Amino acid sequence: MKIISNPLELKKYLQTLNVTIGFVPTMGALHEGHLSLIKEAKRNNAIVVVSIFVNPTQFLKGEDLDKYPRKDDADTKVCELSGVDILFFPHAKDIYTEDEVSILCPKVRGFVLEGFSRPGHFNGVLTVVNKLLNIVSPTNAYFGKKDAQQLHLIKLMVEQLFMRVNIIEVETMRENDGLAMSSRNVYLSKEQRKEALKISSSLKTAFSMVSKGELSTCGITKIMREILSPLEIFYVVILDRKFHTLKKVEIGNSIVLVEVKVGETRLLDNMWL
Ligand code: PAJ
Repeated sequence: MKIISNPLELKKYLQTLNVTIGFVPTMGALHEGHLSLIKEAKRNNAIVVVSIFVNPTQFLKGEDLDKYPRKDDADTKVCELSGVDILFFPHAKDIYTEDEVSILCPKVRGFVLEGFSRPGHFNGVLTVVNKLLNIVSPTNAYFGKKDAQQLHLIKLMVEQLFMRVNIIEVETMRENDGLAMSSRNVYLSKEQRKEALKISSSLKTAFSMVSKGELSTCGITKIMREILSPLEIFYVVILDRKFHTLKKVEIGNSIVLVEVKVGETRLLDNMWL
């Protein structure tokens, strides 16, 4: 495995190869969720590039940028063992300069849900993803459905800016008990981890209500809120795949999304209905 930290060196190197490139952007502290993206990339591309970059511009003031888990050595080993060909480990100074060009996320879909509680977060996400995609120029780039709004906005960016990459969506990986894997799960105490199971349990209930013919989005989210109580709920909503609100679930075209706070940790999850 090659480890490269200079963006221009990586760009130049990749330009010399005439092969399909699968790209998995991450912020590190790699877990099985990330690995499922890497596996998918390995299956369908000649070489796989993984980036690890805790992107400062997607953290708001007072958020967990400084304490975000960093496991560079363990992550390097995991990538090596997973058959990653190139690990891209850029330094912030090589990605950002003083007076920056940046991407603005859409004013509506970028400022609802997670974008409402974290205004500007998705500007940072889209800006860095745009930069990373331009450095790597992958054939296929892999993103998790767990971050459904992020995935949706990245797909919008690629479509609206007429970018050439294919965006591949990967299913959410869960712990055996149902908790969606996330680098932030390490912040949870034993008790909080138990409380966090209310999230996947509320989603399972939504799924089973829909299977039994309940299609009213209000009816479903009301029961979900009861299951999630007393956690602080940022949102529980059912939207269509283009992120518009729905009164009735459209099977095959709906997503139920949840964001709650467990202790000081925000946790997101969703299920595609
Ligand atoms: P990070 O949280 O490290 O996630 C990297 C990728 O892994 C994202 O596409 C995310 O959706 C996916 N992922 C995380 N948990 C997952 C799970 N349990 N199952 C499947 N996929 C999962 O998301 C980011 O980093 C950043 O915002 C990034 C896109 C790298 C831009 O900085």
